Amino acid sequence: MVSLTMRTKIMACCIGVVVLLDLMVVVFVRSRLSATLREECLVKGRNMAVILAARSKRFVLTDGFVSLMKLVRDLESSDQDVVYAYVADRKGRTLAHTFKDGFPADLEGVNTPRPGDQWSRELLDIAEEGLVHDFAVPMLQGKVGVVHVGISERRIQRSLAHFTTGIMAISGIVLVAASGLAAIVSWVLTQPVRNLTKAAQKIRDGELGQQVEVSTQDEIGDLARSFNQMSAELLKQHKLLDDRNQRIRIAQEQAAAERDKLRAIIDSMVEGVIFVNADGRIAFCNESAERIWGVSAGELLGRRLIDCHPPGAHAQVAEILRQAKQVPGFAAAQAMQAHRGGGRRISNYANVHGEDGRYLGLVMLTQDISERVALEQEHKRLRDQLFQQEKIVLIGQLAASVAHELNTPLGTILLRTQLLRRQLGEDYDLSDLTTIEGEAQRCRRIIDSLLGFSRRSEGVMARVDVNSLITESLSLVENDLALKHVLVKTDFAGNGAIVRVDGNQIQQVLLNLFTNAADAMPEGGHLEIGTRLLPGQETVEIRVADDGCGMDQAVLDQAYDPFFTTKERGKGTGLGLAICRRIAEEHDGEIEIQSQPGLGTTVLIRLPHVPADGDAGD
Ligand SMILES: Nc1ncnc2c1ncn2[C@@H]1O[C@H](COP(=O)(O)OP(=O)(O)OP(=O)(O)O)[C@@H](O)[C@H]1O
Ligand SMILES: [Mg+2]
Repeated sequence: MVSLTMRTKIMACCIGVVVLLDLMVVVFVRSRLSATLREECLVKGRNMAVILAARSKRFVLTDGFVSLMKLVRDLESSDQDVVYAYVADRKGRTLAHTFKDGFPADLEGVNTPRPGDQWSRELLDIAEEGLVHDFAVPMLQGKVGVVHVGISERRIQRSLAHFTTGIMAISGIVLVAASGLAAIVSWVLTQPVRNLTKAAQKIRDGELGQQVEVSTQDEIGDLARSFNQMSAELLKQHKLLDDRNQRIRIAQEQAAAERDKLRAIIDSMVEGVIFVNADGRIAFCNESAERIWGVSAGELLGRRLIDCHPPGAHAQVAEILRQAKQVPGFAAAQAMQAHRGGGRRISNYANVHGEDGRYLGLVMLTQDISERVALEQEHKRLRDQLFQQEKIVLIGQLAASVAHELNTPLGTILLRTQLLRRQLGEDYDLSDLTTIEGEAQRCRRIIDSLLGFSRRSEGVMARVDVNSLITESLSLVENDLALKHVLVKTDFAGNGAIVRVDGNQIQQVLLNLFTNAADAMPEGGHLEIGTRLLPGQETVEIRVADDGCGMDQAVLDQAYDPFFTTKERGKGTGLGLAICRRIAEEHDGEIEIQSQPGLGTTVLIRLPHVPADGDAGD
């Protein structure tokens, strides 16, 4: 839709009104003029016809045709509007007329007055003349004849045309004048409005406080006054708003700073902090929470707390969420496996309510307790180890004193048994004596083991090639192993498996391990002995592996315990591995057993490596 300015509208209105008035005047005056002219024409035509009738009847009666001719010609020339005049006798014959080319046939018999009529008129359309008013006046009630006078309509039309042209010209001038006037009036009328518009636009563009001149006391003046008041009020309110915005901005900055500080504090916390909305979805988490949970914030935020837990914990979490909503001052703790990384974590829950008492959500404080658990386990292991060592020391002391006490009577028993054997000679059945002697010998072996267990290393520490030591030890038992169908295989490291040890004690360790392996393979099997330097060259590892019966976890857990044995009574003392471990530790080394029931056992002894040129104190 075309939008017009007020000025255009006022101008259009004014011009419209002027044009309308103009048209009305033209139409009215023209119609009045037309009526007047026609009236005048009719009166003139009738009078002329009446006069002609009055003058003609004498000449008709006297047959004065020449005078009659002169009469009609005089009449025609007396007035421009007279188109023709003619006189007809009572039989309708034309006695005189003004037509130069003869009386026209189409006029014959027209406009015949009725008997008794003073006159009659008829509008005729005559070729070349156009519309013509034919006036007929009977002479002596028609007894003599009828005169006709034709008055042209053309003059009326011409006059009307002249008049219309004139009045249109005047209208044009009036219209131009009215347009100018309308332009001036509209400009004057719209000037205050334009001022108001300009001021309003400036206010819109931020130039507040605009005032306009109040020059009139009319409605426009009232409008200008109201505008000024409104502008002043707007400025005032804007200043107030500015102040308020300023205060809000400062408050927001302070709040943001507080929030950042709080965020920094929460992020620097070792504990993971998670906030769960009332709908059970995670709305906030700090960096520690990401680390402890092993997932990124993106994976946590917006997710349901339940979905962040393994299915096994869903019921527990659902119960915590339920209680948090219902129980005021709710608090709970929950320990579980971390999502990824295999750590342990413990979470403490507390519910949060708004000032209006509405439940807002749940705060979770999560701690990574993996290290603590590992430390506790290590602590327990060390405690067990200490206990074991104390036990071993005690047993060692006890064994030493018992062995010492038993050694003398055992020596006596063996000596007496041999004396008795000699004294009794071959004549007696000495089988009982043999049994006594055998059992005593066994007791002595046990006592030797006990002494071996309790004895601290007193031997000489020397650089020893482990490979040679193993070869030497194997030679001591190779017959025995061969008898038991144990195939031995060695896989030695190249030169350089040198350790600084008491060779006898390490040999004792090796013999114990060979015996254990052989015992685990009663039907025979494979025994593999290998050595290697571990990466870093600081440790020599001896590997004694068999494919015997192996150990289950229960046996494995107790294998180092002194006097623990699964062997039949009288066969094992249960001291072998205890002695091995003691010797390994006395040499700053360690022993490790890897075993699976039915698959065999591998024992690893690790001892500090001595580089070829690194020890001069042999
Ligand atoms: N290579 C092995 N294969 C299977 N089981 C083993 C092996 N070595 C040790 N064991 C198990 O560990 C137990 C303890 O071994 P340890 O050497 O301390 O005592 P023992 O061999 O029973 O007696 P001793 O060594 O005094 O003869 C054994 O009884 C056996 O059950
Ligand atoms: Mg043994």
